[in-house]
Amino acid sequence: MDQRPDMAGRVCVITGATRGIGRATADGLARLGATVVLIARRREDGERASREIADSSPVPPTVVTADLASLASIREAAGELRRFYPHLHVLVNNAALITHRRQRTGDGLEMQFAVNHLAYFLLTSLLLDQLRAGAPSRIINVSSAAHSGAQLDFDDLQGERRYDGTRAYSQTKLANILFTYELARRLQGTGVTANCLHPGVIGTRLLSDYTGVPIAGRALARTFGASAEKGAETSIYLASSPDMEKVSGKYFEGQTGEALVAGVLR
Ligand SMILES: NC(=O)c1ccc[n+]([C@@H]2O[C@H](COP(=O)([O-])OP(=O)(O)OC[C@H]3O[C@@H](n4cnc5c(N)ncnc54)[C@H](OP(=O)(O)O)[C@@H]3O)[C@@H](O)[C@H]2O)c1
Repeated sequence: MDQRPDMAGRVCVITGATRGIGRATADGLARLGATVVLIARRREDGERASREIADSSPVPPTVVTADLASLASIREAAGELRRFYPHLHVLVNNAALITHRRQRTGDGLEMQFAVNHLAYFLLTSLLLDQLRAGAPSRIINVSSAAHSGAQLDFDDLQGERRYDGTRAYSQTKLANILFTYELARRLQGTGVTANCLHPGVIGTRLLSDYTGVPIAGRALARTFGASAEKGAETSIYLASSPDMEKVSGKYFEGQTGEALVAGVLR
């Protein structure tokens, strides 16, 4: 008997879907029959990913462009999603980056804080009505084990006084988890769940940027981390498994993960 969840008719929105773990997550959900919407910074990158995914999926993914470093661009993308998809079933907030030198977005925000955390928060908030309309539905926030040991400095959330790229990254990944926990609490009883995860150590550009070790090609990437397909497994599981329908407010490392509050509420 085929044990794969059937995602036919389920609309799944994935950010950072042009490469890495997000691209593999989109591919996996499309193979399960989902209607996948790729959020891409550049249309041509989104179209390329869509074409590649379409080769192996029943429904070709559509592309919505958004620069997640821009609050206006996120609002515009959410507006487009609202027009075309009144019912949403899965939102995977996955896009992130690490910058070792402090950068500011056009809105004047620190880049990692904007893309890795605020974009998760804003896009989710703007799509909540569609997710409620599509219930049972699921929000999945891709965090990282790098949150462990991080502390939110509420007096300097954007590293204006002191900036260290790795530390800033860890803070945003901790913020992903705290956001998920509070979101799950506020969504109790709505049929919309919210969970977060660590995907593993995966050989992507982000890992290369994190470690400072250039990743030139798949072979080298594999030396430093597992494949993007492996990294997508937990997101796909949380998005599609019937076992997860009522689970909310948890942090996963692998599919059998448990809520790990240690390290988060220190
Ligand atoms: N790789 C790991 O070992 C690892 C470990 C723990 C957690 N994670 C988490 O896994 C998630 C995916 O990471 P990854 O390793 O797959 O990274 P990746 O291969 O570098 O992909 C990052 C994705 O985010 C997108 N993105 C970055 N900035 C954007 C912006 N301003 N607007 C729109 N899209 C933007 C990129 O789009 P462009 O193509 O346009 O740049 C790309 O699609 C992240 O949340 C990361 O924190 C990864």
